[in-house]
Amino acid sequence: MNYSIINNETPANYQTDCVVVAVFKNNKKEAELSAAAKMIDEQTENALSSLIKMGDFTGNKGSIEMLYNLSGIEAKRVMLVGCGDSSKFNSAALHEAMAKVGKRLKAMKIKQAAIWLAESVDDQQQAVQQVITTLSSCFYSLDDYKSDKEESDQPTLSDIAIASTNAEQTAMEGIGIAKGVEFAKNMANQPGNVCTPTYLAEHAIKLGNQHDSMAVEILEESDMQTLGMGAFLSVSAGSREDGKFIIMNYKGGSEGDNPVVLVGKGITFDTGGISLKPGAKMDEMKFDMGGAASVLGTMQAIASMQLPMNVIGVIASAENMPSGHATKPGDIVTSMAGKTIEVLNTDAEGRLVLCDALTYVKKFEPAVIIDIATLTGACIVALGHHICGMISNNDELSEDLMKAGDDSLDPAWRLPYNDKYTKQLKSEFADLGNIGGPAAGTITAGCFLAEFVDDDCAWAHLDVAGTAWAGKASTGRPVPLLTQYLINRLKREA
Ligand code: BES
Ligand code: MN
Ligand code: ZN
Repeated sequence: MNYSIINNETPANYQTDCVVVAVFKNNKKEAELSAAAKMIDEQTENALSSLIKMGDFTGNKGSIEMLYNLSGIEAKRVMLVGCGDSSKFNSAALHEAMAKVGKRLKAMKIKQAAIWLAESVDDQQQAVQQVITTLSSCFYSLDDYKSDKEESDQPTLSDIAIASTNAEQTAMEGIGIAKGVEFAKNMANQPGNVCTPTYLAEHAIKLGNQHDSMAVEILEESDMQTLGMGAFLSVSAGSREDGKFIIMNYKGGSEGDNPVVLVGKGITFDTGGISLKPGAKMDEMKFDMGGAASVLGTMQAIASMQLPMNVIGVIASAENMPSGHATKPGDIVTSMAGKTIEVLNTDAEGRLVLCDALTYVKKFEPAVIIDIATLTGACIVALGHHICGMISNNDELSEDLMKAGDDSLDPAWRLPYNDKYTKQLKSEFADLGNIGGPAAGTITAGCFLAEFVDDDCAWAHLDVAGTAWAGKASTGRPVPLLTQYLINRLKREA
């Protein structure tokens, strides 16, 4: 889909298949034309206000009316969208309205639309992002693998123009985020036999080829052997798929600027290994590369927006399988940092690939490190599917990430941690065990990772187990949070 921003144009003169305008309700519960609807009304000798006077359109939330052949209007159709109370029209209400609009555009197979709804919301970036993400999820379907593609389900909408009030830059950020989300979804929704570590590496290389400012390097298992990444390799050991360590270096800033480093968990399928998972819903473990997908999506977003900053995206990617070569419970492995780890449960594999990645990225002298992982089922118990969990050694970074999450409708919540939780990871035989028992599973997983980060480096871990997918589809989260964090960081420095 192509997205563009409309600035200072009247909907009456806009040439498109369908102009979409809002009708609200005022505090006396009467229908009230939005500014855009008013412009159409004026050009059409009150076509809209007469409709309202007759009681045929009330502005009730969720109601939709299509008007055709309006004289003086360039567009083929005008869609009126009831948006309810104008004083309560925020991003959430916009999302509801856009879901209805998307459904109608899809049912009518409309190809082009120009939307005057976002400009009625205060936060323009959030609004534009919302319009696009809602529309693209209305039109999203992964039917690459269906031989009988239903004609009626084929997406038709190809061009979307969004009216925004005089803040082109901000609107473009909304588009950038939404496209990054789409990219992440496209990766994560693929089945595990297609989206392998090699597939992620190929897509990273492709992204690098599309942007001069991005260099991509792939480390093979033999390279990781040389580096001593014994924790990572212990996860990959059971699989016939080669593990890949992907490094995307985006140099948008000045030479000497310390980079923001993003580290994504890229387990392309998590069976649990020898500590095999139960069968129910195991198919969803193809989404266990959601952290990696969000790093790819964010790198794509910042490169397409050409943000002037240095960001390094790292993905630790492997498949977690049981086999004759697989790591067994009780095996002891040596991490790149030199710490020995007793693998008490092969299903706690995310932290094993991540700990070597956290050690590896020290060489970049990061300004901050953010790792993103579908790490623990316990996070879903704690926070459900609405908010992702965060563990961090730095108050400022935590606050910045929470704010970015709120700004971009992709919230995070910080959990506590301290030495008492870290003690739960004690092992009889090695420096660390890879599990901390049933209590506070999300926190002890974070404590494990913290053991591989320098205290003086600002670090945050995002556990997206509950938010990276919903039902059987990827959400593309936390691309909005991460991209927004980077945008906010730039604005603060400017
Ligand atoms: N990928 C899973 C976490 C997960 C589970 C995410 C369910 C989303 C839904 C992770 O690798 C895992 O298996 N974690 C274990 C850790 C335990 C063995 C300490 C878990 O959460 O059960
Ligand atoms: Mn697991
Ligand atoms: Zn996992």
